[in-house]
Amino acid sequence: MPGRSRRLFFALWPDETVRAATVSATARAVAAAGGRPVPPDSLHVTLAFLGSLPTERVADVLAAARSVRAAAGAQTFDRIAQWGRGGPLVLEATRLEPALERLQSALANALLGANFALDRRAFRPHITLSRQPARRLPPAPPDVPGGALAWPYAAFVLVDSETGPGGSRYTVAERFAVA
Ligand code: 2AM
Repeated sequence: MPGRSRRLFFALWPDETVRAATVSATARAVAAAGGRPVPPDSLHVTLAFLGSLPTERVADVLAAARSVRAAAGAQTFDRIAQWGRGGPLVLEATRLEPALERLQSALANALLGANFALDRRAFRPHITLSRQPARRLPPAPPDVPGGALAWPYAAFVLVDSETGPGGSRYTVAERFAVA
């Protein structure tokens, strides 16, 4: 990877089925909210945001991620809402599944143990759908039977984030299986 620093984060990354289900469950709300919709191939759940790091530290990031022992699972997302005034439109979870809580805290602890700085705010699993939505919407369930969308996962990923004229571009750099 060229360059002396990389902007990195860990995430759950959907497979094509989950991505398509997320797009169809949220399309109406995204169209109604306007703003800058996140492209379908960028949809994700951030687990840990590292920010910009010198490339020499990436080996330690990978080692921390490989040390994580956690189980596969499924997180349910059941609410579309805007976070704060002028904040993003998100698909969020009323209930953080214990398996995902364990995965996220194992990853955060491994990274903190390797001296990486992380956001100390409580983990609130969400998928950002649109940034700077033009219209405020009341919270609503996603357009799926039962109003809840499942995100099964069997891995987490390390993602490179590059800022370009059209917004952030994400590239999955490495996948870490959980079982
Ligand atoms: P967001 O979607 O809620 O804005 C890549 O930028 C991902 O990392 C996005 O999902 C973004 O969350 C998240 N992110 C960006 N900056 C962050 C920060 N300072 N702390 C935590 N997460 C951040």
